[in-house]
Amino acid sequence: MYSRYDAGGPLGAPAFASDGAVSAAPSNRTRTPEADHMVKHPGVEKVALAYSGGLDTSVMIPWLTENYGCEVVAVVADVGQREDFEAIAAKALATGASECRVIDLKDAFARECIVPALKAGAIYERRYLLGTALARPVIARAQVEVAIETGCDAVAHGCTGKGNDQVRFELTYKALAPHLTIIAPWREWEIHSRDDAFDYAAARGIPVPGSRSKPYSIDRNLWHTSFEGGILEDPGAAAPAELHDLTVDPIDAPDEPQDVVIGFDGGVPVRLDGEAFEPADLIVRLNRIAGAHGVGWIDLVENRLVGMKSRGVYETPAGTVLLAALADLEAITLDRDTAAFKRGVGARYSELVYQGLWYSPLRTALDAFLDEAHATVTGEVTIRLYKGHATAVSRTSPYSLYREDLATFDEDQVYKHADAGGFIRLWGLPSGIAHRMRSSARQTGSPAEGETAGRGSADPAPRERPPHEPTARHRTGGSRDTTPVRG
Ligand code: ARG
Repeated sequence: MYSRYDAGGPLGAPAFASDGAVSAAPSNRTRTPEADHMVKHPGVEKVALAYSGGLDTSVMIPWLTENYGCEVVAVVADVGQREDFEAIAAKALATGASECRVIDLKDAFARECIVPALKAGAIYERRYLLGTALARPVIARAQVEVAIETGCDAVAHGCTGKGNDQVRFELTYKALAPHLTIIAPWREWEIHSRDDAFDYAAARGIPVPGSRSKPYSIDRNLWHTSFEGGILEDPGAAAPAELHDLTVDPIDAPDEPQDVVIGFDGGVPVRLDGEAFEPADLIVRLNRIAGAHGVGWIDLVENRLVGMKSRGVYETPAGTVLLAALADLEAITLDRDTAAFKRGVGARYSELVYQGLWYSPLRTALDAFLDEAHATVTGEVTIRLYKGHATAVSRTSPYSLYREDLATFDEDQVYKHADAGGFIRLWGLPSGIAHRMRSSARQTGSPAEGETAGRGSADPAPRERPPHEPTARHRTGGSRDTTPVRG
């Protein structure tokens, strides 16, 4: 779903065209070979720019026109950042874009990126819920689609040369449309600071923000709001109290806890307090509820793919609740081995997402594993929200593997206390032999008696002893079990 804006009258007033077929965008320049000599980088006719309406990408429109002599199509992705998209489109056209497309990607973002990452339990370096990283593939894909539809031969993005996002955008371009030329103005232009960008814009009559200084770099979408830069660049300084967009400070959160009930179907969140929702709508609603309790605010230092450490503040209220709820539901619906294996999958998945490898065979293979593992992860979890905490307090599932008759301390027919003795003996066999061998080697420099090659390979289990017969330890009162090892 998209809205298209074309450069209209002489002042570039936007002509709004609602969803529907797109006629080829009117090319406002047909370049002659002579014109190519005028530009620094000839060879690109028309570029699709990932446009946010911020200072950097606004400056990029005239910069691309001047330096590449090309036409610019601005592509604005609505991933839930809650902005005035009509104003952004008007700005793109006023700045020199020949066309601006605003594409509603909220559902695709939620369904295709957020839900799989949630199912994976993907948390980068055990803390970052990947809000920015998850949005990039879906934004870049939409950009490529517009580029192809409008006959572009290049794509451009506004990411700096020091971050992860350039990698995420460009790996998506390369996977989906390797024929497109990639332009990363930040890696080649002469604009090195916000002041430079201000001056560049001012010289071209481009409307600029009120203040030259910008306290933080902020990235907002359906899943999170993130803050980087400014005073946050000193990891030794606490984040200022005003750094809240989706959450309140827990100090200001209500004194009464609130319970929310999340319903999952096959690992996918489908209900909130008994009401059915599409994933994107559920997230928006849950962000509001959990954010009001100060849930999901986090301050961390992470390892960027490009080498440096960076410090950021992230707010992911709905994500924090959904991850806690799903993990809790998995605890009763997944068997031990699948759950253990899945923890490794989550860690690996988070790296793939963070490192821009969304379009990789491993990611799709892991999705297949997760779908299979989650076939019975259906049920409801109640999460209590209170002063920044989201705590699971109850969980139910028609596929629960939890058996009260097995867990009870009372005697039962399936699980006999006495069976545990034999189990423990066999379970401890390899570790016991190895421990004695190693401590003997450490203490005496020679192999443990009775555990030497040939003899030691035999089962050292003590002979079966009736429960009433005292052990050697009981007999001697010593602190060590000196029961002789029998072969
Ligand atoms: N460091 C995070 C990542 O690489 C977030 C980057 C964007 N955030 C921002 N405030 N500019 O995914």
